[in-house]
Amino acid sequence: EKGGYEHFMLKEMYEQPKAIADTFSPRIKDGRIEIEELGMDDEAIRAVKKIVIVACGSAYHTGMTSKYIFEGMARIPVEVDLASEFRYRDPILTDGTLVIVISQSGETADSLAALREAKEKGCKVLGIVNVVGSSIAREADNVMYTWAGPEIAVATTKAYSCQLIALYLLAMKFAHVRGTISEGELAEMIEDLKKLPAQVEMLLNNKDRIQKFANRYLAAKSIFFIGRGIDYAISMEGSLKLKEVSYIHSEAYAAGELKHGTISLIEDGTLVTALLTQENLYKKMISNIEEVKTRGAFVMAVTNEGHSDVEKAADYVVYIPKTNKYFTNSLAIIPLQLFGYYVAVGRGCDVDKPRNLAKSVTVE
Ligand code: F6R
Repeated sequence: EKGGYEHFMLKEMYEQPKAIADTFSPRIKDGRIEIEELGMDDEAIRAVKKIVIVACGSAYHTGMTSKYIFEGMARIPVEVDLASEFRYRDPILTDGTLVIVISQSGETADSLAALREAKEKGCKVLGIVNVVGSSIAREADNVMYTWAGPEIAVATTKAYSCQLIALYLLAMKFAHVRGTISEGELAEMIEDLKKLPAQVEMLLNNKDRIQKFANRYLAAKSIFFIGRGIDYAISMEGSLKLKEVSYIHSEAYAAGELKHGTISLIEDGTLVTALLTQENLYKKMISNIEEVKTRGAFVMAVTNEGHSDVEKAADYVVYIPKTNKYFTNSLAIIPLQLFGYYVAVGRGCDVDKPRNLAKSVTVE
């Protein structure tokens, strides 16, 4: 049932182009974003004062990415919280707050408890869920399904990618209704969305090059990921993918935090993966690369096509094709998924079932 792939994780990475298209296609009609299951008309969308996103693990990372997108594109303040933190801190949920719970399985105990807490406090809860009919899907006021299909590998890849798409669509819908993007900008974004499946495919087809690179780091002690803005959120997911399947210690840092302590961890030969997909933060990131290189780091950079000047600062560069600045996560995560996967394969790890982890965390 692995369809010729060595692992479910690789198979599911390869299913991403289709999963992404399946998630956006039914929601784009005549150049408009239509999310009927949202259960909100334009007036209700305009009345939202704040969005609170609650999730665990990788789903939390998609929430982090979408904070930058909702705030940047739709100018709505967003708070993102780990479900296990949110539920125990008696959160302040004021009128006009929309709570979004993101979950692949729809059964994560902390996310479900957070949903109940939010409902009890009188908030409308939107679930972004992959498993149809799961607990979170049943208990949320409204459900927007990600159409990734069943995900078997413990490490999420295609469900993560579909969560991003669902969040892009929501942000685009909100931004359009609230007038913070123009008709032209919306049309351009829709065009860019439609290009994502083929672009993801192209990046997947680069797997041999990533594998060769990954094989150099099978004995690494620690690997770091740095970025700013959306690139920081991508870093978090890249780091989680690597550590959960390969058991190599890894951390993600907001690049601006390096000099506040963490740069002391860089030693000769330490691999630092730097994300540079945000043009406005590009120069700042180049400085961060130079800082870690001075301390002996080997730097792999993931950046936008056309930025060949990054090769002057970094040791190894992976390019992602051109897309909207809000959608770069969908592309930049592909080489990072492949990297984590191939490091784990090279180390002989049980990639689909990493030790101590379960696909669905129904205990607290
Ligand atoms: C990491 C991973 C986990 C899940 C987390 C939430 O690859 O899969 O971090 O993202 O356990 O699970 P769901 O989305 O089912 O609520």
